[in-house]
Amino acid sequence: MDGLAVLSIASEIYPLVKTGGLADVAGALPLALAQENVAVSTLVPGYAAVLDGLEKAEPVARFKDLFGAPARILRGNSGALDLFALDAPHLYLRPGGPYLGPDGLDHADNAQRFAALARAGAALSQGLADGFAPDVVHAHDWQAGLTAAYLRFSGRRSPACVLTIHNLAFQGLFPSGLLAPLGLPEASLVTEGLEYYGQISFLKSGVNYSDAITTVSPTYAQEILEPDQGMGFDGLLRSRGDVLFGIRNGIDTRVWDPASDPLVTKHYSLRTIKARAENTRALRKKMGLPEIDGALLLGVVSRLSSQKGLDLVLDCLPLFEPLNLQLALLGSGDPALEHAFAAAASESPDRIAARFGYAEDLAHMIQAGADMLLVPSRFEPCGLTQLCALRYGAVPLTSRVGGLADTIIDANDMALSAGCATGLQFEPVAAGALAAALRKAAGLFADPPLWRQIQLNGMKCDVSWTQPAKTYANLFRNLAA
Ligand code: ADP
Ligand code: GLC
Repeated sequence: MDGLAVLSIASEIYPLVKTGGLADVAGALPLALAQENVAVSTLVPGYAAVLDGLEKAEPVARFKDLFGAPARILRGNSGALDLFALDAPHLYLRPGGPYLGPDGLDHADNAQRFAALARAGAALSQGLADGFAPDVVHAHDWQAGLTAAYLRFSGRRSPACVLTIHNLAFQGLFPSGLLAPLGLPEASLVTEGLEYYGQISFLKSGVNYSDAITTVSPTYAQEILEPDQGMGFDGLLRSRGDVLFGIRNGIDTRVWDPASDPLVTKHYSLRTIKARAENTRALRKKMGLPEIDGALLLGVVSRLSSQKGLDLVLDCLPLFEPLNLQLALLGSGDPALEHAFAAAASESPDRIAARFGYAEDLAHMIQAGADMLLVPSRFEPCGLTQLCALRYGAVPLTSRVGGLADTIIDANDMALSAGCATGLQFEPVAAGALAAALRKAAGLFADPPLWRQIQLNGMKCDVSWTQPAKTYANLFRNLAA
């Protein structure tokens, strides 16, 4: 197997900067691809956290003017990750997060910030840095979407380009007046280019100008071809259906390992599953929830956005007392949802506990301690928290959409009699169906041997990157050939 070099372009990467699953994927896939003889280098924006975390950084390229000021590319590493950081202080060094300012609104110049990322990525992939010539460019989401357009219109030889769609809800839409300022030709402002209802779409650039498109689970790859989940892109994606592939995500099973995780109270594995109960006690204590005889402790680790369907959980709160349920929620995002869960917690402190913000340690404690992990998403391209839950023995209760449908075996009668269930699923994504699933969960939980079997089945699932990385490697090799 010949070695292959890939330039990955991502707007966030674990462990340096993370707002969601994209960072996990960008941080873990290169490590798994290394096992397939694919060497991945990743270009990321030079946010403060990236510049601070970059080890052995050396400048490898300069731009005299990158949308308003000079910039340079630094090459260094973070652990085993080979990184290029786009050091452009005028674009990336400022208060707020990767996408939003401190006021919670998009940075006003996000078009320039991520066009710069794509432009630097295109230049790097065409040999800007001495000794670096990737065979394939792998662009993630709208933030890297313009890479394909810059390559297409450069008039120079380019490596093959792959776009991965992690979330079709974010399409990178900006006024078409930015076309020339972003250095894009008039010829790109067409339906077969990046024109989208009079605007320009960075994601559409990626869809139309890449050689292949992937998304993060087989079911989502099907769903987005239909108007219901296509978010206006279904027709376009159908037109590219011959080069669209669904490859499910994995998780980094070294970071997420209950037998060695430094963030959990008590280590455990398949064989020592009984010890897990100590983590459940620790989680209740940490969240201020009382021990209630026979209560089922539900966990949530999530962005709070309408995608994640957590408003349905609010609708089901009246069931918590009669079904003997408790909830430990960690979330951040929509202030209205935060407010609603905070109100529920103060009304029923014995049943509901909620923490808001981003907390890696608590996320791990919930996975290690909750009896079930709730993921009632309206749509879910892949979802990573249910994969962590499987590995940690927190039985997932999810809607049956996207990657959730692909990664969990519902405890229906057939799966129960075959002894292969790994979780519970409900559909449609509505409060009534969630309520029915919660009732069923309470019934299964009351049968400890059966519950233990479901839990162990989940822990035996392969949620690693091993298989998906082989699929990516094959795709990259085919494109490079
Ligand atoms: P999405 O990318 O749509 O948010 P995923 O399930 O793919 O959903 O990935 C979410 C990632 O972010 C997981 O690694 C999860 O543990 C983490 N996460 C989500 N919310 C929080 C939070 N409030 N605190 C800590 N980690 C979180
Ligand atoms: C997106 C999706 C999520 C997916 C993640 C990583 O944020 O919402 O389902 O797991 O990207 O691909």
